[in-house]
Amino acid sequence: MKQFTAALLGSTGAVGQRYVSMLNDHPFIRLEVLMGGKSAGKKYGEAARWLSPSEAPKDIARKQVLATRPENAEGCDLVFSALPSEAAARVEPNFAKAGFNVISEASAHRMEDYVPLVIPEVNPSHLPLIKNQRKRSGWKGSLVATPNCTVTGLAMVLKPLLDGFKLNKVVVTSMQAISGAGFPGVPSFLIMENVIPYIKNEEEKVADESRKILGVVGKNAIIPASFGLAISCNRVPVIDGHLETLYAEFPGEVTPSAVTKTLNHFMGAPQELRLPTAPKQPIMVHEGLDRPQPRLDRLAGSVPGMSVVVGRVRNGIDKNSIQLTLLSHNTIRGAAGTAILTAELMAARGYLGR
Ligand SMILES: NC(=O)c1ccc[n+]([C@@H]2O[C@H](COP(=O)([O-])OP(=O)(O)OC[C@H]3O[C@@H](n4cnc5c(N)ncnc54)[C@H](OP(=O)(O)O)[C@@H]3O)[C@@H](O)[C@H]2O)c1
Repeated sequence: MKQFTAALLGSTGAVGQRYVSMLNDHPFIRLEVLMGGKSAGKKYGEAARWLSPSEAPKDIARKQVLATRPENAEGCDLVFSALPSEAAARVEPNFAKAGFNVISEASAHRMEDYVPLVIPEVNPSHLPLIKNQRKRSGWKGSLVATPNCTVTGLAMVLKPLLDGFKLNKVVVTSMQAISGAGFPGVPSFLIMENVIPYIKNEEEKVADESRKILGVVGKNAIIPASFGLAISCNRVPVIDGHLETLYAEFPGEVTPSAVTKTLNHFMGAPQELRLPTAPKQPIMVHEGLDRPQPRLDRLAGSVPGMSVVVGRVRNGIDKNSIQLTLLSHNTIRGAAGTAILTAELMAARGYLGR
């Protein structure tokens, strides 16, 4: 496989740090350039308040954090962006215009109709939208978005349910970790011994992004999936790992065993292509009565944190409905991991390179 060099915007933040860990020793993507906001000019090791128990890789810690400007990514094939949305809205198009292939974590451009919003196992067929994007924008590069951290695990579970059984409506309740709010996140005075039943703009993002990801490619944009989706988002005192309970209604009868089998067997392009960050089993159904749990299951799978763990699969109010609980690691599967997997898929399909 050809080697690719990458720049990382927002490198010092909670998600940026996950990229640094996950790209260390990557077989064909080398993290070359680290960019930041306030930390520009400092050594990465001093600027990043490292959140993981393992240390930052030494060669990365010695690198200088550069100002967030396209000219500082000169020579890179790929730009990962872990910028806050407001900065992403301004900055990411400048990188795409300058010829870089940008993969973004931010919500700023996710719902633009010329921006593919991708989970590699779910909707790799949306990537060809890049052609339209280049025509409309005149960019030499491209901009691909990855979903909100609550959407990723949910859409991965909804995809095989939709394909296997059709879906009428879905009701979801999320219990979202505090790292989902970035660093330093929610003040401890607000979250300790508490649950906050509101996360600004989150419920709208989950509904809109899920339908876009599960939609089909139309002439110039994605035609969103049409099932009903209601969600309540809650912030809970957990460091990492978003837990969601899901109630789904189908046009016909469904059994828990058929749903379990369908979820366990779900595979996508990354598994077929054996991409390095692809987990062998993207969805793992746990048989334990009290699983999944964030502390026990968030790093499950052959690539830690990249599998969604499902449990408690049972019928709902009748035989046409199912209830289950799902867990996904919000900064790995819900952020850096999915973006890196997207880059691997884009490399395999010839979308990278300048
Ligand atoms: N946390 C999650 O679970 C998660 C999951 C999915 C998606 N996301 C999205 O990923 C993005 C990053 O989230 P995060 O949790 O890592 O946030 P974070 O911890 O607050 O980190 C933000 C990063 O962006 C940089 N930055 C801030 N303002 C900037 C500016 N004006 N110009 C250039 N750089 C700037 C910061 O650098 P300095 O410190 O140098 O200023 C820092 O490196 C957000 O868009 C978020 O919505 C987060």
